[in-house]
Amino acid sequence: MLGNTFKSALLVSLMAFATGAMAEITLSATQDGSTINIDKALFDTDASKEFLATGKNPYIGNEEAIKKGKKIFNLYSCVACHGGKGEGAVGPGLIGANFRYAKNVTNKGMFETIWHGTNGGMGAKGFGLMAPDDGIKPDELLKVIAFIRSNSNVGTTGNE
Ligand code: HEC
Repeated sequence: MLGNTFKSALLVSLMAFATGAMAEITLSATQDGSTINIDKALFDTDASKEFLATGKNPYIGNEEAIKKGKKIFNLYSCVACHGGKGEGAVGPGLIGANFRYAKNVTNKGMFETIWHGTNGGMGAKGFGLMAPDDGIKPDELLKVIAFIRSNSNVGTTGNE
């Protein structure tokens, strides 16, 4: 009896320790700063889990991830509005020093902008609000961002 109570108390405190140790960033909509709630289960790779814990993009500078990011950039039509390297077309350039939304100089900010869209002409994930599980997954978006940063004119990695 006592043993079981002790064990479950131990388990509860271990769990509290585990969740406490896994600090998490809060993602905020670029439109109004409100919290974006993304199903945690979508962060299903080591890299996306690390991003959720630290706000840093582990794929920066990773050639394999950048190659995949380029494919996804084309697949989701980012290319149609932002140009083949993100240099800008009908949509703004993504690789210079200045951004319409200053937060996009960081990878966390850029993730928020692409995931949830902007007020001035870009819908969530480049299209429009859709079911939160549709379209680009967090891991894919980190690869897209690594691709965009690899083209930076000014050496921005977003992890600074
Ligand atoms: C239909 C055209 C269109 C598509 C498709 C599109 N965008 Fe955009 N994007 C825009 C426009 C227009 C803006 C500027 C919005 C504003 O000023 O609010 C923008 C803004 C951005 C920004 C912020 C730029 C800044 O200066 O702060 C990023 C980052 C971005 N887009 C990335 C992407 C990615 C990645 C994709 C593909 C998943 C994508 N976009 C798809 C039109 C598009």
